[in-house]
Amino acid sequence: MLPHKEIELRLQQAAHAVLPAADVASVLVRPCPDPKFGDYQSAAIMSLAKAHKLNPRQLATEVVARLDVSSWCEKVEIAGAGFLNFRLRPDVLGAALESAARGEHLFFAKASQPRTVVVDFSSPNVAKPMHVGHIRSTILGDSLTRLLRLLGHRVVTDNHIGDWGTQFGMLLVGWKTMLDRAALERDAIAELERIYRAINAQCDANQPTYNAATHGAARAELVKLQQGDPENLALWREMIRLSQIQFDTIYGRLGVKFDHALGESFYNPRLPDIVAQLMAQSIARESEGAKCVFSDGTLPPKEDPFLIQRDGEWQPNPQLIQKRDGGYNYATTDLATIAHRLATWQPSEIVYVTDGRQQLHFQQLFATFRRWHPELAGRVKLAHVWFGSILGDDGKPLKTRTGENVKLADLLDEAEARAFQVVSEKNSALPEAERRAIARVIGLGAVKYADLLPNRQSDYVFNWDKILALNGNTAPYLQYAYARIQSIFRKGEIPKSEVGDPAVAIRLAAPEEIALARHLLNFGLALEAAAEEYRPNFICTYLFELASHFSRFFENCPVLKAEAADRARRLVLCELTARVLAQGLEILGIETVPNM
Ligand code: ARG
Repeated sequence: MLPHKEIELRLQQAAHAVLPAADVASVLVRPCPDPKFGDYQSAAIMSLAKAHKLNPRQLATEVVARLDVSSWCEKVEIAGAGFLNFRLRPDVLGAALESAARGEHLFFAKASQPRTVVVDFSSPNVAKPMHVGHIRSTILGDSLTRLLRLLGHRVVTDNHIGDWGTQFGMLLVGWKTMLDRAALERDAIAELERIYRAINAQCDANQPTYNAATHGAARAELVKLQQGDPENLALWREMIRLSQIQFDTIYGRLGVKFDHALGESFYNPRLPDIVAQLMAQSIARESEGAKCVFSDGTLPPKEDPFLIQRDGEWQPNPQLIQKRDGGYNYATTDLATIAHRLATWQPSEIVYVTDGRQQLHFQQLFATFRRWHPELAGRVKLAHVWFGSILGDDGKPLKTRTGENVKLADLLDEAEARAFQVVSEKNSALPEAERRAIARVIGLGAVKYADLLPNRQSDYVFNWDKILALNGNTAPYLQYAYARIQSIFRKGEIPKSEVGDPAVAIRLAAPEEIALARHLLNFGLALEAAAEEYRPNFICTYLFELASHFSRFFENCPVLKAEAADRARRLVLCELTARVLAQGLEILGIETVPNM
């Protein structure tokens, strides 16, 4: 077992011995933010003391008296109000590196209690191009999936494609009255978007382009589709097929796969029954001809998503589940989706990765679900993992020069083209095909990393030079650190087997070696923290620090030229750094190349 896991387990046992009634599952060990105080710390005893109304310092003293971690740590220190600080013994650091070098672990452990988690991400809309708003969902969702799977959880991914709704009334009118077949052959999504825009402009009563006849036609086509008209159904299917081709191309480029892609239309047959149940249970009621869920008054107004403050007063803020014309809403479909997922996969967690503008939708959805199925609500954690916008240099949402939404495919093309320039400048001697292959990995890596690095809830400014820089907190910098280590092994003509079974026990000597080794040991903690809060940016920060530790080590500690014992130990540090970098980047969906 890994040292931090051993310490955590002993600490839980000691806490249990002192306070048998306490729930010690939350007694966790975390990296110490300042190495001055040690390698790990725990604030858990203070929380336990608070929960049990005890003096924290005294509780800490009693727990420490029962705690024997002398096989791993120096004497445990109690600091401040009751923090525990742990410092690993140098031989423990060395032993952890040895077992990692032998391939027994890579500084992380699988979850002791694996969960089933459904991740709902990407979820683009049919007949509309995937734009940068969908890129964050795709990249974040994919990375969370990779992370949870690596930690041993069972993850079911489901792409909740927007393949139903009022836009199809307009698309059908457009298809029947103004479709340009040649344009459809060339670029189906662009043509679908063109006809959608043209008809949509005629259906918006607030626009000078409004045309009551077109508006009426769009409604009629939608009703026909909903009633199963064979012609409209066939056209609708064709639009889905054409869109799916484009989505799949992009997923292929990004290396993203889904277990399921149950679009909104899949849930259609279930919607009438859901509305009927919500009406029967008095969770929903009629309001101005529509059916809506209102507050049940059980929550304080500030926490109640069905209330909104207007002019200093709390007003109803209902969630629509059936429109006046009988059509169903986004929320109705989402309720059916939760029920289906629970019945099919029995998850203990469902995670939705979307834009921050959908926060109210999900707050209301989760609250409605808890009222609809109180018996299930306690068994599943519903989490909205939301994110901010990607901004241009002007601080406004990213647009093309002509003011259009940036299309994801164009963004990826540009990333590869720019990376090709960078690679060509550095390695003009490499054959072009090889430079293109490297540029693909670097360009895509740069875009993904740019998206994952900021705290997901903040907006970030997208800048090509910044994300492609070889020095800075970027994917190319981390990929370069990885390639540099590979070149050490190439230069020294060292077979990896020499590292896999270190002939000598590892006794770390230089301070830079110790700092690097400690950071390597924190990999698992970084992964756990990222999984707990659904924040891959913790992994970015960890990897950037790892590369920085490695740089300091490499500047101060000769490797190939060192005498035998130093050289063997330092090669292990190089190899393990490379493995952790590659594994960490893989969680972010980013590839590495041996040579840049
Ligand atoms: N299609 C939606 C959009 O593009 C996102 C769907 C998210 N998932 C869900 N279950 N509501 O905004």
